[in-house]
Amino acid sequence: MKKEFKIVICGGGSTYTAGIVKNLLEEEELKIKELWLYDIDQERQEKVSLIVKEVVKDLRPSLELKISTDEEEAFTDADFIMAQMRVGGLKMRVKDEQISLKHGCIGQETCGAGGMAYGMRTIGPMVHLIDVCEKYASKTYWIVNYSNPAAIVAKATQTLRPNARILNICDMPVEVEARMAEILDTDLSNLEVDYFGLNHYGWFTKVQCNGEDVTEKLKKHVAEYGYVSKASYEDALVKDPDWLHTFTNAKKIVNYFPDYLPNTYWQYYLLGDDIVDYMDINNTRGMQVIHGRETKIREAVKKLENGEKIDLTQFYVGVHGKFIVEVVKALAYDTRSRQLVIVKNDGAVKNLPDDAMVEIPAYITKDGPEPVRVGEIPRFYKGLIEQQDACEGLVVEAVIEGSYKKALQAFTLNRTIPSANVAKEILDEMVEANKEYWMELK
Ligand code: NAD
Ligand code: G6P
Ligand code: MN
Repeated sequence: MKKEFKIVICGGGSTYTAGIVKNLLEEEELKIKELWLYDIDQERQEKVSLIVKEVVKDLRPSLELKISTDEEEAFTDADFIMAQMRVGGLKMRVKDEQISLKHGCIGQETCGAGGMAYGMRTIGPMVHLIDVCEKYASKTYWIVNYSNPAAIVAKATQTLRPNARILNICDMPVEVEARMAEILDTDLSNLEVDYFGLNHYGWFTKVQCNGEDVTEKLKKHVAEYGYVSKASYEDALVKDPDWLHTFTNAKKIVNYFPDYLPNTYWQYYLLGDDIVDYMDINNTRGMQVIHGRETKIREAVKKLENGEKIDLTQFYVGVHGKFIVEVVKALAYDTRSRQLVIVKNDGAVKNLPDDAMVEIPAYITKDGPEPVRVGEIPRFYKGLIEQQDACEGLVVEAVIEGSYKKALQAFTLNRTIPSANVAKEILDEMVEANKEYWMELK
């Protein structure tokens, strides 16, 4: 009989929990012994769990969903921990965005000043999660982490807990692949990609569809329309105008830099002026999520509390849930499936530092990822990545050492911030805004 596992979702109150659980329960090959939700916010988790219980009732009524805010109870003997914490919540996401925008800089969840501030909040709790898992979880536990900013979390956890069994992942490349599949009118499972970069900072160098090289064909399409095709308009994620704008923007990047196909997040680093013009300080992405995903959750919970029925499909958006379940399945049963994940470079990209945390393809085994060799990358891409890697490294050092100087260096080095003057102004406001979350910087 196949081994059965205890799975814990850390950040059980997340807007993504229902979608992840749906994919977990639809994956019949993954045998679940126990399914737990863990969160530090009991009220939020209890509300979200009402929706999640509907998903369970629908797909696996025999399974009892367990819910806890107690670390020992939740993590004892856990095999897989799916992490998706948002430290500071959407309230702090909006602050990150607005403080940056006020100074004319990109105000974004994971990029630029906002991303660095979010990183400085998240390093401590993620390291704590590792320590809790080391203490209570199964000896062969795996944390599969979505918590953002994944690039900084990866760099920090590699530095502070190098032996931890944590694999950091991001759904963006797979979401772009889903758009590519729509363009090619094929199934996502028929695609195989070559890719290199840091998280939210990478490039597709080759795309194959059932073994045929379709890279140039895709470039042609993306140069004209971005990552958007007729089929995309049926996609729940692309129906969101902000995401449509993002997928369309890839067009400009491919025209400027036609070597490779970009991750959508390059818009923040390469088209910063366009994006600052587009962003609205009174309607930031965080605010849109509060009025969108968050409101949907609240309204569904209210309906359930009143004994009314809800439409669960509204919570099943994108490839997010499917991707993390695929990674967990590979770790669980040693499937060696090929996935894009964030790993220590160690020579995979020959001319990048060994300690860079790169996003590249890897074969996922029960002992973790076996990264592919990427080889050398051209100077332009190497230069971009080295700058960002140094910036993220300085964020991590700033937190470890409580160093204001290093934080200022990190903010100054980031491509989205034009000068040390602006870096200092933003950093000083971020220090004020993050008093509850950051250690004192000296
Ligand atoms: P959310 O605010 O809806 O949910 C996050 C949950 O985490 C909340 O219930 C909160 O109480 C909980 N939380 C906060 N600190 C915690 C801690 N220390 N321990 C346990 N739980 C904690 O946020 P969301 O929009 O659903 O996103 C969740 C996370 O997933 C965010 O970090 C987001 O950036 C990330 N995300 C990452 C990817 C990726 O590609 N890596 C994709 C989507 C979302
Ligand atoms: C993609 C990225 C995530 C990010 C999310 C934001 O999925 O890969 O890292 O958290 O988008 O989406 P949102 O709808 O919250 O702006
Ligand atoms: Mn991501």
